[in-house]
Amino acid sequence: MSTGKKFKIASIGAGNVGASAAQYCLELELGDVVLTDILEGFPQGKALDLTEAGPIRGYSSQCTGTNDYADIEGADLCIVSAGLPRKPGMTRLDLLEKNGQIMTSICENIKKYAPESTVIVITNPLDVMVYLAYKKLEFPANRVIGMAGCLDSSRMRSFVAMELGVSMKNVDTMVLGSHGDDMVPLPHYTTVSGIPITKLMPQDRIDAIVERTRKGGGEIVQLLKTGSAFYAPAASAVRMAQSVIRDEKQVLPCAAHLTGQYGLNDIYMGVPCVLGKDGVEKIIELDITDAERAALHKSAEEVKSGIAGLQEVGIL
Ligand code: APR
Repeated sequence: MSTGKKFKIASIGAGNVGASAAQYCLELELGDVVLTDILEGFPQGKALDLTEAGPIRGYSSQCTGTNDYADIEGADLCIVSAGLPRKPGMTRLDLLEKNGQIMTSICENIKKYAPESTVIVITNPLDVMVYLAYKKLEFPANRVIGMAGCLDSSRMRSFVAMELGVSMKNVDTMVLGSHGDDMVPLPHYTTVSGIPITKLMPQDRIDAIVERTRKGGGEIVQLLKTGSAFYAPAASAVRMAQSVIRDEKQVLPCAAHLTGQYGLNDIYMGVPCVLGKDGVEKIIELDITDAERAALHKSAEEVKSGIAGLQEVGIL
């Protein structure tokens, strides 16, 4: 039993992703959760529902809902999923301006009420939104982290496991770059219990898995028709939150602020990070091929054009 401090987690945005993140945090008993949303009654209703599940699911952490940012006061960790989800036919960049405005107002409130928190951003377009959050919050970069690679690599792990008929738990992958069609899955860092997948399946199946991973978000959007993925995104953010809150030092691909790593500067991109109590405690520079490096830089161009878009509309 932990006798340590009780953590406070603010899940900002009580929609599909935010409420699922709250649920996973409660089930892991990571801390008390404050669900925050602008819709009246919505976060309160979800928080009460989650509280009423507690006796059955066996958690006793508190969950409250609010429309008042003052209630996030002193939060140790903020998970931000507020914004519009991607609809069929919409690109992540279409969401840029609207979600940029939402992110700006949320950052003002986090800065005011939870200035010491670590912030995990989920809102899309992810790499641009987390950069915006970093700029608006003016927190040290290690405390502002984007959730993307963890989700993309979890998708790739599932696809590899499905293809080979093996346990998903045995599959490890690494996905770099932006959270979009230009992400850079790394098959040569993909293993099944230490066995490289190149030894287990032919190249055309690896290529198909890489492609499906790149389009993983879109595949769910096409199926759901009325929204975008939420279980896996929320689970990924909570995996990151767990590593920070419990100081686990898990190595996870996250969107982190780069200052020269991989030849990229002042940009948020997906790279392997060590996550602990100080947030991003280390960025790991992998040995990658020239083609992968070129793909990573292409993916950075997409993020830069998003940042330029925010500058054009006066948000940054
Ligand atoms: N403050 C708090 N909540 C807000 C704000 C705001 N300023 N603006 C919007 N919201 C809330 C909405 O009221 C809604 O409840 O954000 C919530 C978003 O929930 P959903 O529409 O269900 O979207 P969701 O599927 O959770 O996706 C949220 O995560 O994966 C990304 O692309 C996805 O950017 C999207 C985000």
